[in-house]
Formats: sequence, structure tokens, C-alpha cells
Amino acid sequence: MKLPLTTTLSLLGQQTYESAVAAAVRAPSVHNTQPWLFSRHNNAVHVRANRARWLTEEDPLGRELHLSCGGAVRHLVLALRAVCLEVTCVLVPDPDDADLLAVVTVVGSARPTLPEVALYEALWTRHTDRSRFLDVPVPERVMHRLRTIAEAEDCSLDVLGEEDVLRLAVLTDHAERLLENDPALAGEQQRWTSPAHAPRQGVPMSPPEPRGSDVPLRRFGQVGAGEADSSGEPPPVERPVHVVLSTATDDPSSWLSAGWTLSDLLLTLEQERLVASPSTQVLELPGLRAQLRGALGLQGAPQMVLRLGYPEGTGSLRTSRRPVAEVLR
Ligand SMILES: Cc1cc2nc3c(=O)[nH]c(=O)nc-3n(C[C@H](O)[C@H](O)[C@H](O)COP(=O)(O)O)c2cc1C
Repeated sequence: MKLPLTTTLSLLGQQTYESAVAAAVRAPSVHNTQPWLFSRHNNAVHVRANRARWLTEEDPLGRELHLSCGGAVRHLVLALRAVCLEVTCVLVPDPDDADLLAVVTVVGSARPTLPEVALYEALWTRHTDRSRFLDVPVPERVMHRLRTIAEAEDCSLDVLGEEDVLRLAVLTDHAERLLENDPALAGEQQRWTSPAHAPRQGVPMSPPEPRGSDVPLRRFGQVGAGEADSSGEPPPVERPVHVVLSTATDDPSSWLSAGWTLSDLLLTLEQERLVASPSTQVLELPGLRAQLRGALGLQGAPQMVLRLGYPEGTGSLRTSRRPVAEVLR
């Protein structure tokens, strides 16, 4: 008996597609907005921006939206590779359809490499960790690995020295204050940080802890976050490494690539039992973003600021995700 053409050519079944989407939505996203939608077209998966979940105040260009979706595309590809599917991926495939961010097409079968399997496995446990870090240096071997990953994706990863960390700290603190004092920006952030009404999105907040680092974390509107505690005891010394991920150009395609690379970096850190947390306030205000670029002498456009290290404890509260059915189009 001859099977219909569509059946014989179907390399991507519905179940495999939905499992891959479940892995894709584990990607980090700005304020856990999860600004993505997926649809299947025979053997291709389309990844689209979900503009209903776009932070229009904080991210008017959609740069952070693209970064978030770029990470989801990387997770999707890893999940398809993990089940021995060979894929091609085109970012921004249609200039007339700006919300179509990527098309991932299954083109055959091929065993995944060991590094692909390791990255795939890490995506189920990776999470942002805003807790204090230990006073333990990050090995140079790991930093070299991270830089190599960034360069392979045409990005650059600058590891900041002591003076540059202080410059970053001053600009980040300034950005945090400007954001907090702008009612529209503060209100938008507040909506994604109080997800009690919608527990599968947004950033769950744990009580602020005093820290001995220079660069402030995003306070998410919490009064006193990160300041010294009332006992008068100095906070324990931390030893975070601060890195800036940059791209040569600054357009939707490079924002998606930066998101893809960010996922690879974070999954590699997870493999190495290190953790990270982004601090992107300074990149959300165009004037301060330009100042950061100049102050640090960055060659490219800064897309992400990360603090990484060994966690002191069990880590921050885990974020949740919307069910797969809600992100299928
Ligand atoms: C583009 C982008 C910007 C982010 N900026 C910050 C930030 O400034 N501060 C912070 O604590 N987390 C930041 N995050 C981390 C998100 O809040 C986090 O990924 C999201 O809540 C999901 O949680 P998870 O990473 O633990 O899965 C950012 C993530 C992305 C992708």
C-alpha cells in the first residue's frame, strides 16, 4: 500500500514538536515574560514574537524580546538534535514579517554530538541565581570555554577587570535609580514581578539579602534590597565575575544571535556547576548603554551583562512557565 505523500515525508511528529517546544520555553526571558509563540508547518517550526508580552516601556525596540526568543530558538534546536533530528535554522527569514523570528526545519536524521546532548540535559535545571556567590574564583579554563563559545557565534565576551567592574557598578546603580523613578517603567516592571495573579510568568521575589559586591542586582522595586543588614555585620565577601556579551552589529538578527549565544553560555555554566544572573538595567537606557560601551572600550554593541560564580546556597526561587498549549499558535 502506498502512503500519502505527507505521511511519508513527515520527519517531525506532533509529539516530538510539542516536547521540543516544552524545552524551548525553559529559556530565560526578560522578567520571565516568555514573549514567544510556536507553530508547525510540516517539518518546520516557526518561532514568532508574542507582542502581547512585550515590555514596550522598558524595551521599546524589542531588543530584549529578541534576546529572549533567540534563547528559545537555541533550546528548540537542542531538543530536536537530542532526538537525532538534523535541522537547519534561519533567523529573521522574512523581512516583510518582522514577528517571524526564526524557522527551524527538520531535514533528516543525525546523531547529536556529546556537547549537544550535554547542553540539552542542562536546560532542564539551568536557572537564574540571584543569591550571594562564594568567595571562590571561577577557573580560567571555564572563562576560556565561555569566550570560545561566544566567538564561535560571532559575539564577543569581555571579562571585566576591577576598574571596569567599578565603572559598571556606577552606571548600573544610576540606571536602577532612573528606572525606579520613572512611573511608567517602574509600573511595567512591577506588573511582571508580582505574578501572584498569574503564577506561571514573571519573576518570583525572595527577601533581599545584603551583599558584598559592587554591582547592584536589579531590585525589582524591593525597598532596601541588597543593603547592609541591621546587625551592622559586613556582608560576606563574594567573588562574582562580570562579563559583557556584545555583537558587531545592533539589529534584530544580532539580538537573536546574542540570545542564542546567551543560552549556550548559561547551559555551559550549568554543566560546570556555576550559576549566573543578568543585570541589564544599564542596557535599557540608550544613553547609559552608550556610556557603558565607551567606558569599557567595548568593540561591539553590548547585549547582556552577566554576573557569574559559585552559589553560596540553594539559589533563588525557581520561575515557572506557561503550559505548552498556550504558546502554540
Ligand atoms: C534579555 C534578558 C534580560 C534580563 N535582565 C535581568 C535583570 O536585569 N535582572 C535579573 O535579575 N534577571 C534578568 N534576567 C533573567 C530573567 O529574569 C529570567 O531569565 C527569568 O525570570 C526566567 O527565570 P530563569 O532564568 O530562572 O529560567 C534577564 C533575562 C533576559 C533574557
